[in-house]
Amino acid sequence: MPTNLPRWTDDAPEPGVPGAPPRHVAIIMDGNGRWAAARGLPRLEGHRRGVEALRRAVRAAHELGVRHLTLYSFSVENWSRPVEEVSDLMNLLRLFIRRDLAELRDSNVRIRVIGERVGLPADILGLLVEAETTTRANTGLTLVVAFNYGGRQELVSAIRRIAEAARDGRLDPSKIDTGVVSDHLDTADIPDPDLVIRTSGELRISNFLLWQSAYAEFAFLPMHWPDFDKKAFEDAVANYQSRQRRYGGRLTRAGA
Ligand code: IPE
Ligand code: IPE
Ligand code: MG
Repeated sequence: MPTNLPRWTDDAPEPGVPGAPPRHVAIIMDGNGRWAAARGLPRLEGHRRGVEALRRAVRAAHELGVRHLTLYSFSVENWSRPVEEVSDLMNLLRLFIRRDLAELRDSNVRIRVIGERVGLPADILGLLVEAETTTRANTGLTLVVAFNYGGRQELVSAIRRIAEAARDGRLDPSKIDTGVVSDHLDTADIPDPDLVIRTSGELRISNFLLWQSAYAEFAFLPMHWPDFDKKAFEDAVANYQSRQRRYGGRLTRAGA
């Protein structure tokens, strides 16, 4: 397969076949703060309800046959928020892993973490590694947690490693292609997202999976993340299934 085409796994939907379900759904979980503000509640309450929505999303993904679910939980830019909010978000991650890890393991969910690990609080790093190792042998839904993640930062670190390999003579620069770049990303063994969902009505990507979403379909939903439920997930998937993905080519069916 030429490496300049989007990468496919064996079970990925064929390009241009309407009706194929998305195998990889990635979600920008946005709007917790506005959800809380609209109800006169503290932001923390919005984030707490956001964790409940996250649990619903994992269950729904499983029921909808999604193989990979990536959740944008904390961006590298989110450190610029007030320290109390950053601390609340870290505490929610701690709570989530402590409370939910056993159930996720028993539900055959495999957890993967993408993002920058250097600079994370030691106990958070320990919990993330524990989540990955505990579920490593699972074969069901892969839950990809994007934590301290930034698409540009991920590309920079890939470029650095590629440059080092070239400098050390392990890689011929003329052999660098899209496949080599993909293989140096945190997502090296994860297929590209088919569908990227963002809640809260914002129409931007906010440094999420910049490389990987080159040919993703997008769904921008007006609801805030704490209101996201199975029905919203089903509707987004149904909408996705009605689209034609062309990857710059043309469909071969008559009339297409
Ligand atoms: C998403 O909700 C959670 C994170 C970014 C961690 P926000 O906290 O961004 O909520 P809004 O966008 O301010 O409403
Ligand atoms: C994106 O939401 C990051 C996460 C959902 C973790 P933000 O709320 O941080 O994005 P901006 O600031 O609106 O672009
Ligand atoms: Mg936001």
